[in-house]
Amino acid sequence: MKKTALSLLCLAISLSTASADDVIKGAMKKNFKPEDAIAKKVGKGEATDAELDTLIKCVQAICAATPPKGDKAAWVEKCKTMVAALQKVKAKDASGISEFKKANNCKACHDVFKPAK
Ligand code: HEC
Repeated sequence: MKKTALSLLCLAISLSTASADDVIKGAMKKNFKPEDAIAKKVGKGEATDAELDTLIKCVQAICAATPPKGDKAAWVEKCKTMVAALQKVKAKDASGISEFKKANNCKACHDVFKPAK
């Protein structure tokens, strides 16, 4: 149940056909890709506490999902690193932002976990 609620949080956009497989895609489209995506705001030190909470829950939800490619255990590790960095940012620990930026390397993660088209 908890997992479902978290997934929905990630997919709060208009994804009426949300399924477990779409959790990661939905999260990417909503919280990573847009110019004003929370993941980008965090990198600039502009995310509010509420936005940080949203992103933390979102990353926890994709952590529970299985990426289309790559090793699940490595995926969980990666997501956990992101969550830990976000929690530091929220606790106003200055190292959090640089740790998050390092973990949120779009290409590095896509190379391993996102299938080529
Ligand atoms: C923790 C790993 C990870 C990070 C970091 C990450 N992504 Fe992704 N991203 C994925 C995975 C896995 C997929 C493939 C999801 C699928 O096909 O189900 C994906 C897919 C996408 C997609 C395609 C969504 C779709 O509709 O198919 C976009 C766009 C995207 N990512 C943007 C970004 C951007 C921009 C960043 C950096 C700011 C980023 N991602 C960082 C793991 C990551």
